[in-house]
Amino acid sequence: MAVAQHVRVDAPGGSYEIIIEPGLLAQLGERARDYGLDGPVVIVTNPTLQALYGEALTQALPNASLVIMPDGEQYKTLDTVAKLYADFVEAKLDRGGTVLAFGGGVVGDTAGFAAATFLRGVRLVQMPTSLLSMVDSSVGGKVGVDLPQGKNLVGAFKQPDVVLIDPDVLHTLPDREWRCGLGETIKHGLLADPALLEMISDSHKTSAADLVRRAVQVKVDVVQTDPYEHGMRAHLNLGHTFAHAIETVTEYGWAHGEAVGFGLVAAARLSHRLGLCDASVPGQVEEIVRQSGLPTRLGGLDTAAIYRAMGTDKKRQDGRLRFILLRGIAQPDIIKDVPADEVIAVLESLQ
Ligand SMILES: NC(=O)c1ccc[n+]([C@@H]2O[C@H](COP(=O)([O-])OP(=O)(O)OC[C@H]3O[C@@H](n4cnc5c(N)ncnc54)[C@H](O)[C@@H]3O)[C@@H](O)[C@H]2O)c1
Ligand SMILES: [Zn+2]
Repeated sequence: MAVAQHVRVDAPGGSYEIIIEPGLLAQLGERARDYGLDGPVVIVTNPTLQALYGEALTQALPNASLVIMPDGEQYKTLDTVAKLYADFVEAKLDRGGTVLAFGGGVVGDTAGFAAATFLRGVRLVQMPTSLLSMVDSSVGGKVGVDLPQGKNLVGAFKQPDVVLIDPDVLHTLPDREWRCGLGETIKHGLLADPALLEMISDSHKTSAADLVRRAVQVKVDVVQTDPYEHGMRAHLNLGHTFAHAIETVTEYGWAHGEAVGFGLVAAARLSHRLGLCDASVPGQVEEIVRQSGLPTRLGGLDTAAIYRAMGTDKKRQDGRLRFILLRGIAQPDIIKDVPADEVIAVLESLQ
């Protein structure tokens, strides 16, 4: 039996725990009280996860109402939130009730936003099921939805009461989603934890629970230092200026994590070009991204179009391009005024 790993997060308005434990889902019923799930609960999930884990969930929490939202980023909308409110009313969820978000980042962000706003806020338990949602979106208190005009344009800060992670559910995660989660996990290693990078390289020696715990710790450290994104939390955007531009240019043909993988390679090259770090850094980044099955080359995408797409990224301030770059592994820094020709040269070197 694997040992439970607990990570405490100090957040504005109280602290909460992230519990990482293989087999946790099977024990949810017995532990319901420990996790504040012994009162009225509405479980929000999607049809994919319902098919896989619906029975386990209803066995564990027989009195809970199960609410299903559609699967897919295109449903991370105010329309879905409105439907969730109606389901919450029907389930008679009151101010003492709890929303349990069981799913990837889409379920977590959407159900989390509904929980933050329904009756001005009810309790929220996050049970992330994708690698990305375990190491990234379920931690830090950001919840929200997309608008037709752009992603994540509406949202709130809503700290969960507890985050429950059962790494065993990763067995059913599609390979592409696993790789996408690795993109953010590599990012966390590059920001703050070289040992995490070694764990990813030696993946056959590493348990998913250990990988998740170390990657979660990086995000926890960042969001505890800067809960409302006034400064250091920007470091989490490493690789993301490139990634968002590629998502735009490919009209989301590249998944976010794939674009992040490439973005990390590009950010490391740019860091070296600007003299911030030595050549071993881009070499190491490229190797681990490639090993993880994520793209390291653009494969013919239009570099000029990518550069133009960076102009609409919210990280462009006062008309100048601002990047999170690396002065070394685990030494991120915010660099303003990066010259356009350096960025374009990096993109062209990665065709
Ligand atoms: N709130 C934040 O701070 C934050 C941070 C990063 C990303 N996000 C958001 O997270 C979302 C992306 O999250 P995601 O990558 O988890 O995508 P997702 O929620 O769409 O999940 C990816 C796919 O995997 C499936 N899935 C999830 N867990 C599974 C499992 N255990 N077994 C089988 N299938 C499973 C889902 O049903 C879905 O089809 C985006 O909307 C992004 O904006 C939010
Ligand atoms: Zn990301």
